[in-house]
Amino acid sequence: MTETTSTPALSNLLHEDRAFAPPAGFTADANVGAAAYGDAALDRLDFWARQAQRLSWSTPFTEVLDWSGAPFAKWFVGGRLNVAYNCVDRHVEAGHGDQVAYHFVGEPGDTRDITYAELQREVCRAANALQELGVGAGDRVAIYMPMIPETVVAMLACARIGAPHTVVFGGFSASALADRITDCDARVVITADGGYRRGAASALKPAVDEAVASCPQVRSVLVVRRTGQQVDWSEGRDLWWHEVLGRQSDEHAWETFDAEHPLYVMYTSGTTGKPKGILHTSGGYLTQVAYTHHAVFDLKPDTDVYWCAADIGWVTGHSYIVYGPLANRTTSMLYEGTPTTPHPGRWWELIQQYKVSILYTAPTTIRMFMKLGEQVPAGYDLTSLRLLGSVGEPINPEAWMWYRRVIGGDRCPVVDTWWQTETGAIMVSPLPGVTATKPGSAMRALPGIGAEVVDDDGVPVPDGSGGLLVLTEPWPSMLRGIWGDDDRFREAYWSRFSDQGYYFAGDGAKKDEDGDVWVLGRVDDVMNVSGHRLSTTEIESALVAHPAVAEAAVAGASDPTTGQAIVAFVILRDGVTVAGEELVAELRGHVSDTIGPIAKPRQVMIVPELPKTRSGKIMRRLLRDIAEHRELGDVTTLTDSSVMELISAKMPVTA
Ligand code: WTA
Repeated sequence: MTETTSTPALSNLLHEDRAFAPPAGFTADANVGAAAYGDAALDRLDFWARQAQRLSWSTPFTEVLDWSGAPFAKWFVGGRLNVAYNCVDRHVEAGHGDQVAYHFVGEPGDTRDITYAELQREVCRAANALQELGVGAGDRVAIYMPMIPETVVAMLACARIGAPHTVVFGGFSASALADRITDCDARVVITADGGYRRGAASALKPAVDEAVASCPQVRSVLVVRRTGQQVDWSEGRDLWWHEVLGRQSDEHAWETFDAEHPLYVMYTSGTTGKPKGILHTSGGYLTQVAYTHHAVFDLKPDTDVYWCAADIGWVTGHSYIVYGPLANRTTSMLYEGTPTTPHPGRWWELIQQYKVSILYTAPTTIRMFMKLGEQVPAGYDLTSLRLLGSVGEPINPEAWMWYRRVIGGDRCPVVDTWWQTETGAIMVSPLPGVTATKPGSAMRALPGIGAEVVDDDGVPVPDGSGGLLVLTEPWPSMLRGIWGDDDRFREAYWSRFSDQGYYFAGDGAKKDEDGDVWVLGRVDDVMNVSGHRLSTTEIESALVAHPAVAEAAVAGASDPTTGQAIVAFVILRDGVTVAGEELVAELRGHVSDTIGPIAKPRQVMIVPELPKTRSGKIMRRLLRDIAEHRELGDVTTLTDSSVMELISAKMPVTA
C-alpha cells in the first residue's frame, strides 16, 4: 500500500499527543541515562571538561571556556591535540587495527572494507603527499569528491597536517566551486574523475577544470581515479592520487595543534546571496561530535554497525560520518550512490546484508521511501536495527510514524536531532534511553546545551506557545566565525538578541504543554529543500544574471516530498521574444548550471510585476501564499494590490 503524506501544519503539531517511551531493555543498556541532565546542570563547564576526556590530548587544557572575546569563543584553552590521531591512530595503538572503520559499497556493487589500520596507512600516505605538494599547517585545501573512502582519507590527511579543508558538495556547479575556492583561497584541490549516481558515471573533473580556470592561485589538482572516465589533463597541475600516494611512506609523524586550530570551513547559505564559510576548530568540535554521537546514537563500538546516509559534502557527513564516529571507533557504512539505484530496496538490502543497527537520515528520504510503498522494505530483514535518527528539516508526524513502524518495527527509538552547520553538532534531541519521544518533536536541549524558545524581545515563551529558537550558552562545537567576515558573523547570529547574548538560529519553534521543543522551520530567507539549505537571494541573483530577466523573486513553497520547493517569479526584460515554456526551461537550467541541480526551481512563473512593500522590499510571504494556493494575507502594505491579482492569474491550477 502506498501512503500519502503532507507537511505538518501548526495545528497538527499542537494536537500531537502520541508519545513512545524507550524500551526497558534499551534504557538498561543505554550509554547515557537521565542523570546526565542534572550532572550538566550542576556545572556545565565541568561537564564539558569531562566530555573532553573522550579525546587524547598531548597537552592538557588549562581553561574550559574563554568567552571574554564573545561572540568569539575559545574552548579548552591551552590544550593541544591532533584530530586525525584521535580518529584513527589511537584506536590502532589500543589494539583495534583490525576493526572495520568503513564498509564501503559503491553504487555499481563494488565493495571494500577498510580497517582502522588500513585507514591509518592511507591517511599517512595522503598526509605525506600533501606535504610534498607544499601544503602546510593553516593552508586551505578544497575537496570536491563523490562518496568514496578517499574523501574521508583526504579530510583526515588535511586534519593530520593542520590544513583546514573545505569540502564542496559534488552536486554543486563549477561556479559555486570556484566561489568557495576563491573565498578561502585554497591552493590545492582534491577531486575524482567522477562518481556513480543513478546508475551512471557522473563526471566531476570537468567542473574542477572550469572552476580552476578562474582560480589562478590553484597550483595542484589531485585526482582520484574512480570511474575511469576520460579526463582532460593539465600537465604540471594535475596529478593522479594513486601515483602521488603510491610513492609515499605509510608512516607519518603527526604534530599537535592548538585546540582552536582551524579544522575546516563549510560553506552554507545565509540570507544574502553569498554563501558563508562557517569555521570550525579542533578540540571543542571533536569533543562535542564525539559526545553527541555517543549519547544520541548510543553507539557501542564493539557491536554496532552505524549508517549515517548523508553526503560527506554537508555538515552532517563531516560530524556524523567522519569525525564523531571515528573518534568513537565506530564501524560505519559508506554508500556511494542514490538510495534507489539499482533497485528501490537497495538501502534495505544493505541493512540486511551488513546488519546495520543504527540508521541516520533525512525526512525527505523517508518521505521518498513512503511514496514507494512499504512493500519495498517489507521484503528485507531489518531486525538488526535498534535506533533510528532524523536530521535536516522538520519531520512531519506521518513520516516519523512510518519510519518508526515500517523501518523500526515499532521497537527502535526515533531520535529527531536539531542542529545546524553553525552548531557543528547535535543540540536538541531526545536521549534514546531516557526520553519518551513524540512524533515530530526534537524534544529537549542535550545535557550541557542551553536552548530556549523566546519572543521578539528575547523573553522565553510559556509552554504551549511559539517563538524563535535561540541558544543561550556557548557550546564546544560552535562556529568560531565566518571565514574572513567577522562583521557578518556578529550581525547574522548575535545582533538580534545582543542584549541577552543569545545566538539566533534563524528557526521558528514552539514549546508544547510539557515544554518540549517542536522546530517549525526557517523564519528568514533561507529555504530547506530536501534538507539542503538554499538562500532565496542566491537563486534570485542567479536568475537576474540571465539576459532575459529584469527582476526575480524566489519563495519556498511547501512540498509533500522535499519539504519545501523553489518557486521563482520573474519579470522579463523588454524585448524578450522567446516563447514562455522554452524560456522557463532555459531559466531552470540556468539556475542549475549556476548553483547546482539542487537549486533548480520547481516552477518559474513569468509575471508582469512583483508584490513589494512601500519601501521596495519584495513580499516573499505573499509569493509563498500564491505558490501554495493559500488565501492571501494582508496586502495593504503593497504599493499596488492589483499586482497580486495579476500574479495569481498566472498560477497554473495544479503545481
Ligand atoms: C533545519 C543540517 C527541524 C533547521 C544539520 C536548521 C531542522 C537547518 C532539523 C540547518 C530538525 C535541521 N528539525 N529542522 N531536526 N535539523 N533543521 O546547516 O531549519 O544544513 O536551521 O544543518 O536545517 O541546516 P544545515
